[in-house]
Amino acid sequence: MNWVQYLNMRKILKLELKNICKYFQDVKANQNVNIDISSGEILGLLGENGAGKTTLMNILYGIYHPDEGDILINSKKVQIKNPRDSIALGIGMVHQHFMLIQNQSVAENVALIYKESPQFFPSRLIQKKLVEFAERYGLHADPDKMVWQLSAGEQQRVEIVKTLLNNADLLILDEPTSVLTPQEARDLFQILRRMKVEGHSVILISHKLEEILEICDRVVVLRKGKVLGESKIKDVNKKSLAHIMVGRDVIFDFHKDVLQRGEKVLEVIDLTVRSDRQTNAVKDVSFTVYRNEIFGIAGVSGNGQKELIEAITGLRKSVNGKVIVESVDITNLPVGSQNVSISHVPEERIQFGVVPNLSLFDNAVLKQHHNPKFSNRLFLDYTVIREHAAKIVKKFQVDTPSVSTLVKNLSGGNIQKLILGREISEDHTLLVAAHPTYGLDVGATEFIRNHLLKQRIAGCAILLVSEDLEEIYELCDRVAVMFDGRIVGIMDPEKTELEEIGLMMAGSSSKTIGAEA
Ligand SMILES: Nc1ncnc2c1ncn2[C@@H]1O[C@H](COP(=O)(O)OP(=O)(O)OP(=O)(O)O)[C@@H](O)[C@H]1O
Ligand SMILES: [Mg+2]
Repeated sequence: MNWVQYLNMRKILKLELKNICKYFQDVKANQNVNIDISSGEILGLLGENGAGKTTLMNILYGIYHPDEGDILINSKKVQIKNPRDSIALGIGMVHQHFMLIQNQSVAENVALIYKESPQFFPSRLIQKKLVEFAERYGLHADPDKMVWQLSAGEQQRVEIVKTLLNNADLLILDEPTSVLTPQEARDLFQILRRMKVEGHSVILISHKLEEILEICDRVVVLRKGKVLGESKIKDVNKKSLAHIMVGRDVIFDFHKDVLQRGEKVLEVIDLTVRSDRQTNAVKDVSFTVYRNEIFGIAGVSGNGQKELIEAITGLRKSVNGKVIVESVDITNLPVGSQNVSISHVPEERIQFGVVPNLSLFDNAVLKQHHNPKFSNRLFLDYTVIREHAAKIVKKFQVDTPSVSTLVKNLSGGNIQKLILGREISEDHTLLVAAHPTYGLDVGATEFIRNHLLKQRIAGCAILLVSEDLEEIYELCDRVAVMFDGRIVGIMDPEKTELEEIGLMMAGSSSKTIGAEA
């Protein structure tokens, strides 16, 4: 079958959103939005955190109903009352936040949404489909693993595979690559290109401008709920896109001062940590992080980074080795009894970092209620707590109507900013941060990276785990690569090619270049 025949198979040749308006009380999340997309086109949807991207796509997918406006498919008005309607019309969506059921297996999660799931014993068929899919397209998802055992990157893969299996005509991807490795993102783009040739249409939301430039045909930029403009991809570049989005120039090249590193802060010695499946996820890992240093851990998600961080921050017991912070042995001491100042930005922060049904100010002091600053013996001091929350909102530019707003009503990026603000605005000697900028728009990313560099100057020791190689490269003084539970090399980014680190992440070589453990 050639591509013209494929094209004719598609049910959605043109989709139009006309004058879409959506209000949440006083927040005008979408105002008179007009967007169209044709078969065989990849459209980038851009905008600052809180611009209204997810809301608009949730309308198209039937999760929200617009207050005004119409959706047209092939010039005919359609009613999309719920996701079932949109799936029937040929629309699929990968959500910004994982919607997987934690205590079910990967196969069970896929079966729930797979169009052709048999009524009885669906797992066999799903397992087969997942294996076939991985062989064909390179995106792997272990069918038998329970979702709660997966790292953020692995969960993201499952979300994508789950939606791709349905072979939707129009695919909506809301920040699909935030925690994918560059290689996985490339594999995904390969799939999208193939889908494009086959006549599918794709709407891609991403804050990674290189990705948008690489894969999209056209971009639409939203700001404060309105369409600010649209452009063919050939008429824009990274700088101009960033400028349109945030209304000012954004710095992409950071200046990192040359600093003499200070005393030892974190010592990890021969650490071995088991995974939830009782296999050794971290194997004999040793390294030291000093004051005035950002020490990066690069690696493909699922190679032990999660377990390593959890063991360092007291969330998981190790089976061998030691964790020492400022000469205090904190090995296997639970969080709260360690008596050293560690801040932790966890990997799955939307899941574990906030209570969505509580207000922003309650969330701003989560886990710190016992802090004398926020309570007077019996009661919490809400005046102080609100002031503290207001400070975070201002400093980290959290876009919210007020500090009383429920966190579940904030946009994804703004929730990230709140958690980051809570965790990194306090003084600390050791900051452990996993993927600190994922989900942030270009302006906020610039702010957080600068903030980390300032903390480095202020004498903090920073352990930065990220799959974003460029981020690691820009910020770190030394970079350790983790593969299969081991540190396979510690490099000085000044003396190492980015490609080399990429290869080591894939397990192809191991060495130590220009830096010691
Ligand atoms: N259910 C809701 N109730 C109240 N306000 C909401 C709700 N959902 C979204 N909003 C508000 O609508 C605005 C747009 O949010 P949306 O999630 O669409 O932004 P976004 O462009 O996807 O941002 P991000 O890049 O951070 O994901 C924000 O101000 C947000 O706080
Ligand atoms: Mg969003």
